[in-house]
Amino acid sequence: MNADPRLYVALDLPSVGEARTLTQALGDAAISYKIGLQLLPIGGMDLARELIDAGKNVFLDFKFHDIDATVEKAVHSVAGLGANILTVHARPDVMAAAARGKAGSGLKVIGVTVLTSLDKPALEAIGYADDAKTLVMNRTQQALDAGIDGIVSSPLEARAVRASVPDDFLIVTPGVRMPGGDKGDQKRVATPFDALQSGASHIVVGRPINAARDPRQAATEITANMRGE
Ligand code: C5P
Repeated sequence: MNADPRLYVALDLPSVGEARTLTQALGDAAISYKIGLQLLPIGGMDLARELIDAGKNVFLDFKFHDIDATVEKAVHSVAGLGANILTVHARPDVMAAAARGKAGSGLKVIGVTVLTSLDKPALEAIGYADDAKTLVMNRTQQALDAGIDGIVSSPLEARAVRASVPDDFLIVTPGVRMPGGDKGDQKRVATPFDALQSGASHIVVGRPINAARDPRQAATEITANMRGE
C-alpha cells in the first residue's frame, strides 16, 4: 500500500492514546495527519512531535483568530516545529499577521474560508448575506493579497477557487465522503475523486476513517477513489 500524502486523516479522537492506536492501525495506508482542537489541550502537541519525528506530514488545524500581534507570535511559535500546514481564520488582518509570523520557515499557512458544516440557512442565521461561494471567493482573494499559502474550502467551491489562484496555492477540502457515505454534520460534500478533480490539492477525512470499523480498509478505499480506481 502506498499512502497518498494528499490525504490528511483527521485525528479527531478523545485521547492521544486512541489517536496513536489509529495511526498504528493505519500503518503505511496513511502518511499525513491532521491534529485539531480536540487533541490540542490533551497532549496533541506531543503527538504532533512524535509524528513529525516519524517522518509523517502534520497539519495543525488550530484556526487561529486573534489580534495581529498574538497571531504573528503564535504562528512564529508553530513555525519552528516542523509541521507542514497550519490554519488561521481567513480574515485579512489575521492572514497578514500569519504571513509575517511564518516568514522564512517552511510552514504553509492556510485560511479557513467558510466551515463546510455551514449551508445557506446557517450562514443567514449568523448574519452573512452572501452565500458560501461568494464568501469563499472573497476570502481567497484576501488570502492571496495577504501572501499566505492557501485556503480551506468545501469541495464544492474548489473549482472556482482553483481557476483564480496559482497552481502552487493549496486548496484543502474537508467535507469529503465516499459515494453514499454518512455525511454527519457536513453539508457541502463531495467524493475524494471529485474533490481532487475540482482542484483540491489535499483532502481531509475524519470520521469515515477514524470511526470506521476497519480504518485501514477505509483509508485504502479512499486512496483508491482518489486515484479514480
Ligand atoms: O469527520 P469529518 O471528515 O467530517 O472531519 C472533517 C475535519 O475537517 C474536522 O476535523 C473538522 O474540524 C475539519 N474542518 C471542516 N471544515 C472546515 C475546516 C476544517 O470540517 N472548513
